[in-house]
Amino acid sequence: MDFRHLVATPASLSEINADALVLVVHGSVIDGALAPAISSLIGEAVDAGDLQLKAGRSLYLHRPAGVKASRLLVVGAGAASVKSFKTAVASGLAHLKGSGAKHIVVAVADANPLTALHGEALATAAADATYLYRHTKPSAAKAPAMSRFTLACGKGQASDVSAGLQRGAAIAAGVTLARECANRPGNHCTPTYLGEQAKRLGKEHGLKVEVLDRKAVEKLGMGAFLAVAQGSAEPLRFIVARYEGAAKSQAPVVLVGKGITFDTGGISIKPSAEMDEMKYDMGGAASVLGTLRAIAEIKPKLNVIGIIPSCDNMPSGKAVKPGDVVTSLSGQTIEILNTDAEGRLILCDALTYAERFKPAVVVDVATLTGACVIALGHHRSGLFTADDALATELLNAGDAALDPCWRMPLDDEYDEGLKSNFADMGNVGGRAGGAITAAMFLKRYTAQYRWAHLDIAGTAWKSGAAKGSTGRPVGLLTHFVLAQIQ
Ligand code: BES
Ligand code: MN
Ligand code: ZN
Repeated sequence: MDFRHLVATPASLSEINADALVLVVHGSVIDGALAPAISSLIGEAVDAGDLQLKAGRSLYLHRPAGVKASRLLVVGAGAASVKSFKTAVASGLAHLKGSGAKHIVVAVADANPLTALHGEALATAAADATYLYRHTKPSAAKAPAMSRFTLACGKGQASDVSAGLQRGAAIAAGVTLARECANRPGNHCTPTYLGEQAKRLGKEHGLKVEVLDRKAVEKLGMGAFLAVAQGSAEPLRFIVARYEGAAKSQAPVVLVGKGITFDTGGISIKPSAEMDEMKYDMGGAASVLGTLRAIAEIKPKLNVIGIIPSCDNMPSGKAVKPGDVVTSLSGQTIEILNTDAEGRLILCDALTYAERFKPAVVVDVATLTGACVIALGHHRSGLFTADDALATELLNAGDAALDPCWRMPLDDEYDEGLKSNFADMGNVGGRAGGAITAAMFLKRYTAQYRWAHLDIAGTAWKSGAAKGSTGRPVGLLTHFVLAQIQ
């Protein structure tokens, strides 16, 4: 995909050569400066009742009179914001998906200044509109013709918009990688496959990648991770991928992603309805790989390390049983009361492992709890941290990337449910506040550094007709990492 900017005024939009011009209209009044050919087409359509200038409404015209572009799509966007701009662009591109248009020019109908975030929004919306899963469905419809996207902007905004398009292209490539990994079924996307993906990413983008196997993990003493992995015939992997953009002495940003390539629940087996969706239980891992992909392209002066513990959670004669007690890498013992609370077991060892990097900050990302989906639904990821400044950084990153999260509490009182008579802690509290007790469990392993946890169970994929991975929160994480540059 090709993303560019083009300097134009509202008056010159009728002169732009393109297969399609997507004209985003904020507000309900047409700016007097807009090219007369276009404003009269819009005026006539409004008078005829064919177009309303408000969010969610649009008008498609083929070979519009007086306009050089072969197609004109006018899209109402409501109040001016990057979010409403992106929504309008996305609906415009969805409309053009079935057409023959290859080169799309997007413009706003007024002279309001565009920013880098508008450029980023166009690039990520374009990647979303053109992504097609084909790996196990080669018969899927041919990829849309749309391949070149240009954002028309004023002269003074050209360098911002161009930088935004570039950053957006990098994020989009990361999102696409995350979606592709997560969409692949459990018999294709195995821990071994994730390890290979990480190695390939390393080769293509200059990351240092280490992939540890069971023997190495045993040697390290990751008793909690091993307990989850032991029920599956599929070999585990522990992946460490490093982006080195600054002096070795500079403390790294560490991202830890849950990489359960299929979660049956183990002996505490899940109900069978919709269990197929548990192939997405490596969405955290996918978003860490996607973020590293984006960062490697943007090349900031920073060090970033991705850590991914990956295995299946299966019932078998070798599987861990409710009541079993294991010793984590930290030395703390855990009574595994519910084998379906496996995410925190693989993450706690990865979080302890992260200590060796003396990190500036650690963020873990996990499809951790159904309770988080109940609490926040599918729009905002759950954010957990005791560090107010870090919370603000992550909330801002999510807002800027249009990949939002919402802060949840971590009061000590929530820790009480984790008490065990047989180990330092149990791996579950009660049903109440399940997303919070899961975070409290992780918190016990993070005393050595600044830490936050993102529960993406509700945001990493969609169910229903549009079933599939969203690639979230690659946008949030990329913005967060870039904001760490001193
Ligand atoms: N992978 C699931 C969480 C999940 C559930 C994500 C539904 C998306 C949709 C996780 O491993 C899990 O099973 N969590 C349990 C925890 C419980 C046993 C304390 C859950 O949420 O039910
Ligand atoms: Mn589970
Ligand atoms: Zn899980």
